[in-house]
Amino acid sequence: CGIVGIISRKPVADRLVDALKRLEYRGYDSAGVATLENGRLTRRRAEGKLSNLATLVGEQQLDGTIGIGHTRWATHGVPSVANAHPHATKRLALVHNGIIENYRELKAELETEGAVFESQTDTEIVAHLVTRELERGLPPKEAVQVVLARLEGAFSLAFLFDGEEELLIGARRGSPLAVGEGEGEMFLGSDGIALSPFTDTVRYLEEGDLAVLEHGRITIFDQHGAEVTRAVKRAGGKAFYVDKGNHRHFMQKEIYEQPEVLSHTLGAFVDMTTGRTRLPKDQAIDFSKVRRIALSACGTGFYAALVGRYYFERYARIPCDLDVASEFRYRESPLADVDLALFVSQSGETADTLASLRYAKGEGLATAAIVNVEESTIAREADHVFPTLAGPEIGVASTKAFTCQLMALAALAIKAGVDRGVILPEREIEFTRILAEAPRLANEAIRLEGAIEALSRKMATKKHALFLGRGFSYPLALEGALKLKEISYIHAEGYAAGELKHGPIALIDETMPVVVIAPHDRSFEKTASNVQEVAARGGEIVLFTDAKGAASGIVDGAELIVLPDMPEILTPIVYAIPLQLLAYHTAIQMGTDVDQPRNLAKSVTVE
Ligand code: G6P
Repeated sequence: CGIVGIISRKPVADRLVDALKRLEYRGYDSAGVATLENGRLTRRRAEGKLSNLATLVGEQQLDGTIGIGHTRWATHGVPSVANAHPHATKRLALVHNGIIENYRELKAELETEGAVFESQTDTEIVAHLVTRELERGLPPKEAVQVVLARLEGAFSLAFLFDGEEELLIGARRGSPLAVGEGEGEMFLGSDGIALSPFTDTVRYLEEGDLAVLEHGRITIFDQHGAEVTRAVKRAGGKAFYVDKGNHRHFMQKEIYEQPEVLSHTLGAFVDMTTGRTRLPKDQAIDFSKVRRIALSACGTGFYAALVGRYYFERYARIPCDLDVASEFRYRESPLADVDLALFVSQSGETADTLASLRYAKGEGLATAAIVNVEESTIAREADHVFPTLAGPEIGVASTKAFTCQLMALAALAIKAGVDRGVILPEREIEFTRILAEAPRLANEAIRLEGAIEALSRKMATKKHALFLGRGFSYPLALEGALKLKEISYIHAEGYAAGELKHGPIALIDETMPVVVIAPHDRSFEKTASNVQEVAARGGEIVLFTDAKGAASGIVDGAELIVLPDMPEILTPIVYAIPLQLLAYHTAIQMGTDVDQPRNLAKSVTVE
């Protein structure tokens, strides 16, 4: 989704629509703008393409020198005019990116007070909550602050108030938001790209910030309410790929985008209003008829597919085969009982994966692809296409595309479980609520960056590293090792924790760092024993776990990175993030070219 806002002395409606066009790349299914005409809130909203909104604004002119706009990607409620943003009450209009996790409780509270809702969105409850505070007499900024304190999730918001021609408020909690200063004009946008034609004086809000935009000035407050300054970035980029925002590298920017893009991908597979899973784009696969799935991919996509196998087997009880694409193509497997071949690719152009897709089609299999680039060859040739909505990924080492692939696979596995009667309707809703917590948990994982940076200083002194995990964490051990070697050039190996004793244990001495991914899940005790085996041989242990795991005291003296407790299905998605950060900061210590590591290509189009 995209957010934009303008305070000016000239009409703003057309420029709001133009700015939304520059956010088109984020994906959307409806759009809208609101301005103050003679001080009164007025809205125009349209379903479908932005040109529909542009036409509407052309036919029904919208005056006003202050306004907000939005492109929506449905999470809560179908794409429709009623669900399109801005959402409004008599007192205010607002636009929103991300997911408000506790909206059901808040909605129930408002309903008992008589509030009537026009949409199925989680956004509208924020409009009602702020209205209630305004009616209790609080000024706009304070009203927003009181409400923000009650919202859970990862999101960003922008507000326009009836009768307030000098005021916009923006808030960032997990989803990016930038403010810009022009000549006598102030701007707000979900990234610098939306604002690039208006101004090159852009500031990116930091986590928890609230910005008050008035005619002559922008005031920013941090999460504690203290006034703060944020550095100006003169990116001046006319295209997204030159814009790193506040970040030093694209990789870091892409790591930070995960809370936001995870909610986009989730929205493609789940209607959060009903809590039901769905297949994107009206595609029909009846998983009750699928006896076996053959999964195949390359690189990071392969590790996502490995998690996918665990998901499909655990939650849908569908047996899966799994190959790296370059093997699947030539292995001449009999493909017995395989009713669906599923491919995972960020670019949708990887030659090995494409060749495998064509091979599967040649064998008469139904094919499906999870891809990030919807115009790609793999997306065009597969029978079914499931998009990850990670947005363009520029860093060669895949980060946000990986976690969005995991989100897509988790949602598909739940859908498959429902189709097969393995998951009952109540459990489906429970699962989708859990998936909706991923953006917030991802955000909490990102906040571990300081601790991980400290850890990376030690890692950068090493020549080798081992990564261990069991169950859902096994693919992550492989991915964590891949990330580290790709960008820091430190030799790293990922192992199933139980395999340690069958070989790699010979490598352990006081110089060998062993990174263990061990949330307190059903495999924890077994992994803990493997950790003891390492400790007994003097290996240096870095343990990624949760509060329960840390409290179990499995090894004194291990370096601990403690993540929040979370349901098992989310652990691959959330634990991926500290591993990405570890690789990233180690690479910085090593002084390598983080975004374009040597010898690697973003998309490998040769076999
Ligand atoms: C290259 C990239 C990897 C990526 C792999 C598969 O090797 O460097 O980051 O995981 O290709 O790419 P795909 O676009 O098919 O996911």
